[in-house]
Amino acid sequence: MTQLLPTPLVSLTALNRTFSGGKRLLGKPRTMNAVSDVTLQIERGSVTGVVGESGCGKSTLARLALRLIEPTSGSVVFDGVDIRSLSPKTMRQMRRRMQMVFQDPYSAIDPRYRLQDALLEPFRLQGIKLTKLEAKAKVEELLPMVGLRPELARSFPHQLSGGQKQRACIARALALQPEFLVLDEPTASLDVSIQAQIIGLLERLKAELGLTYLFISHDLSLVRYFSDKIVVMYLGRVVELLPEPSALPRHPYTKALLDSTFEPDPKLRRTVTPAVGEIPSAFDLPQGCAYASRCPFAQDRCRIERPELEPRPEGSLRNVVGNIPLHAHPVACHFPLPLTSS
Ligand SMILES: Nc1ncnc2c1ncn2[C@@H]1O[C@H](COP(=O)(O)OP(=O)(O)OP(=O)(O)O)[C@@H](O)[C@H]1O
Ligand code: SF4
Ligand SMILES: [Mg+2]
Repeated sequence: MTQLLPTPLVSLTALNRTFSGGKRLLGKPRTMNAVSDVTLQIERGSVTGVVGESGCGKSTLARLALRLIEPTSGSVVFDGVDIRSLSPKTMRQMRRRMQMVFQDPYSAIDPRYRLQDALLEPFRLQGIKLTKLEAKAKVEELLPMVGLRPELARSFPHQLSGGQKQRACIARALALQPEFLVLDEPTASLDVSIQAQIIGLLERLKAELGLTYLFISHDLSLVRYFSDKIVVMYLGRVVELLPEPSALPRHPYTKALLDSTFEPDPKLRRTVTPAVGEIPSAFDLPQGCAYASRCPFAQDRCRIERPELEPRPEGSLRNVVGNIPLHAHPVACHFPLPLTSS
């Protein structure tokens, strides 16, 4: 019997994005692949986590998924519509259904705006006119939704704490009642206790509003706690797709991320390195596996042949009747870790 799977809310297919910059080579600017050949399905009502070190392409992938930047090639389908084909006007309307929460709540809100004006900004950007009464009602609805007192409506950003500002950013992202939220490291600049509160808020909102999240973080433990499946990126490529948050890592890089201790102080977080060895330049990637210079299991084949992202049926959950893999566990590694490793 064929199993009917629900259509995903977002489908990214063979997405690539290059940037030029850096030193010139023979008079030509050099290019780098910030996102390479990423294919990913984001199911409705799910949390898809994206994890990887700084510069691996997480934010570029997020921006591509919302068409905030154009891909060099590949497609982004949102609810059955290829959004690359939309006119600017239709895209603007579509944008109501997809919103982003950024990492730094301090710079995400214009310091000259009162909180109420920041919350109403999405309506202005969409050209939606609200009467004074409607605007007031909207602010009064949004503030408690994110756990902020209505009296804060006339506050300026500098009068709010980091956690309150991030709550405000989440409220602003929810103003137009989107279905899809991209959360780009929404807790990275917050202390751990505040981080837990924001994660709790995001969980509650997802359950209450039936939202779908793309959740980006450096912290694999946090992503594991919060996500239904996890995409691990290294230098622009997906190196592993964990079909379940508790799935054992099979790529040595994912294992190194899992073993690295997360730094609770947000100011020190970016200095955490999960593995030894040199990271190759994104402008000059080796022909083989990009992780070979840091991988304790690297062999000659790894330096010659790039491993493709391949499903590993032996690591998948299986349908009891047909023994068909329900959730494939793709890994881009010639010598994946055995399932018994801890
Ligand atoms: N507009 C741009 N122009 C040139 N290069 C860019 C641009 N945006 C991103 N890059 C480069 O693309 C690569 C991926 O960047 P991206 O911001 O997506 O990484 P990230 O995983 O989000 O990193 P972080 O964890 O630090 O936020 C980096 O090498 C970055 O320098
Ligand atoms: S392909 Fe080789 S170098 Fe790359 S992660 Fe796997 S074992 Fe390590
Ligand atoms: Mg980023």
